[in-house]
Amino acid sequence: MKILAIESSCDETAAAVIVNGKIKSSIIASQAEKLHAKYGGVVPEVAARSHIIAIIPTINLALKKAKTKLADLDYIAVTQGPGLATSLMVGVDTAKALAAALDIPVIPINHLEGHIYANFVGEIRNFPAIMLIVSGGHTLLVEIKNHGQYQILGETLDDAAGEAFDKTAKMLGLDYPGGPQLSKLAKRGNPKAFDFPRPMINSNNFEFSFSGLKTAVLYKIQELKSNAMLNSIQHLKKIDLEFNSGLRKQKANLAASVQQAIVDVLIAKLEKAIQRYKPRTVMLGGGVAANELLRKRFKLLSINYQLSSSIPKLEYCTDNAAMIGLAASYRIKHKKFSTKNFSAQPNLVLK
Ligand code: KG4
Ligand code: ZN
Repeated sequence: MKILAIESSCDETAAAVIVNGKIKSSIIASQAEKLHAKYGGVVPEVAARSHIIAIIPTINLALKKAKTKLADLDYIAVTQGPGLATSLMVGVDTAKALAAALDIPVIPINHLEGHIYANFVGEIRNFPAIMLIVSGGHTLLVEIKNHGQYQILGETLDDAAGEAFDKTAKMLGLDYPGGPQLSKLAKRGNPKAFDFPRPMINSNNFEFSFSGLKTAVLYKIQELKSNAMLNSIQHLKKIDLEFNSGLRKQKANLAASVQQAIVDVLIAKLEKAIQRYKPRTVMLGGGVAANELLRKRFKLLSINYQLSSSIPKLEYCTDNAAMIGLAASYRIKHKKFSTKNFSAQPNLVLK
């Protein structure tokens, strides 16, 4: 059974070939650094245009690497949503056109189900499982009762965890996407230097909120700068605000303290879900799963509760098409897919 999988929900154009449940190739063309960095975030129109240019070469490369021809394919799987409307449409239209030409079925896959199946690369997992999905677009806790049986326990009410990393990194003058740079800077800082809020950490649900944290960091930076400003007025001299506010020296401390606050909240909610739902397995996924502190705390938590744990390899944590193809493999195996006509769904819910 040969599947060509396509993913284009955000700013990665990706294609993969899955043969009998095994990944034969996984190609990712990322736009983040080349196209979106100068705007400080993903620009939907720019992303969609870039997908149009990249999608056929990416598919061709995936087929070539897997030594597969279009004519050998049995299915095409594609991300239906959630994601950016125009980005999704490029993947969905390409998948439909190829499937029509080849006269094979096209299977729509929920992007979040894809993140779940990134944990199934060559592995069998024990259910029920609890998964924490943390990326630039999503922050949610999901209970996975069995293949294809999901219950969302809670999501973010505002910013995603990755967004919290990226936006606070931007305040510290780091380039987009700032998450990886912020966590690098945090290594040199003291996580206790600033006591930032841990939003909703004690709320009696599994929801998250990160926008208040962003504001707290902004106020702290302003406070450091305005103290320096007052000082300069008193001494009647022009100064380098950033230098005199100590901001340069404090950057690593700010980064470490923000990272600590975000990770504390994520781990506290995951622990609460473990206590309530008593899973056999815990899983982590999404781009923020690359964060070292989060990985360490996640591992420790799973050991404390004697649970089996899974973090996909980094290339399968961030957006990729292999996870979409693996989700399709399970759907085909369990005969849980529809070949009805469909369209891209930017707000598709995981069910
Ligand atoms: O899954 P992903 O590649 O794309 C989305 O679907 O959003 O996740 C990207 C997000 C960005 O917000 C990025 O800053 C964050 O993951 N990220 C990190 C780290 N590496 C990537 N955040 C914190 N620490 C990291 N090491
Ligand atoms: Zn994603």
